[in-house]
Amino acid sequence: MLPVTSHIVRVTQETRTVKTFVLDAAVQAEPGQFLMVWLPGVGEKPISIMEPNPLSLTVARVGPFSAALHTRKPGDLVAWRGPFGRPFALRGRKILLVAGGYGSAPLYFLAVRACQAGLQTLVAIGARSADELVLVERFRELGCATIIATDRGDLGHKGFVTEAILDILPECDCVYACGPEPMLVAIAQLCWQAGVPAQVSVERYMKCGFGLCGQCALDDKLVCQDGPVFDIEELRHSEDFGRYTRNATGRRVPL
Ligand SMILES: Cc1cc2nc3c(=O)[nH]c(=O)nc-3n(C[C@H](O)[C@H](O)[C@H](O)COP(=O)(O)OP(=O)(O)OC[C@H]3O[C@@H](n4cnc5c(N)ncnc54)[C@H](O)[C@@H]3O)c2cc1C
Ligand code: FES
Repeated sequence: MLPVTSHIVRVTQETRTVKTFVLDAAVQAEPGQFLMVWLPGVGEKPISIMEPNPLSLTVARVGPFSAALHTRKPGDLVAWRGPFGRPFALRGRKILLVAGGYGSAPLYFLAVRACQAGLQTLVAIGARSADELVLVERFRELGCATIIATDRGDLGHKGFVTEAILDILPECDCVYACGPEPMLVAIAQLCWQAGVPAQVSVERYMKCGFGLCGQCALDDKLVCQDGPVFDIEELRHSEDFGRYTRNATGRRVPL
């Protein structure tokens, strides 16, 4: 559980607000697992593994911690603990991955494993506009067919990614999703209606990352340990999923 310190070897600007950091480290991990990344003097935050070897993290600049990480350059040090959490489980022959924002990161790792296993892997990616789509070319380089949706309609389907997958979803053996919780709720509802299994990666505010502090509670589950990946059947009767989260003080508040 002690942090490991690694050097940054490469930084790629993915979009205006998203960067990928490649570290001089490798982890034994499964797609969907995350690390607790620590910048001494700044804080420690959960970040998904985008690639395990070399260890790569794709991070959106949204606040103080991520802004500080975005200032780091090759040669700088980053500390991390993990991997933590329950990963995605591959099932079936034809799968659909649905990503919103930096949700592309854990799904890229999953796509690598799915392609290695010979699964037909479709990837649907949504964003507000074309210049905010994350890792599209990386998925294409793997050989995945991609479906693009943008709110503004400057690339692909105009509207939500959940609309763009309506035709293809019933043909899939399993759907995997990571992104904003309203998107996950919409996907769960579509999959329940179509009778298609799905796994979604859920976020809650995390402090310890391994089941100690209770901060990341979702109903009677701990997202850091029982998740972050949940089968949608585990969430069918959830009171919290799509409705309540916990803020930094641990208080249960509307999402
Ligand atoms: C399992 C998991 C995997 C994640 N993977 C990624 C990833 O691959 N790339 C990425 O860019 N982001 C990821 N995040 C989100 C990332 O942890 C937050 O965006 C980051 O902590 C924001 O910190 P900040 O100081 O920059 O922003 P803040 O202004 O502090 O917060 C911005 C947003 O991040 C949330 N957040 C802040 N602190 C935490 C915390 N300790 N735990 C969870 N959420 C927090 C806030 O609730 C708010 O919604 C992941 C979160 C979880 C739970
Ligand atoms: S973050 Fe501490 S129990 Fe989950």
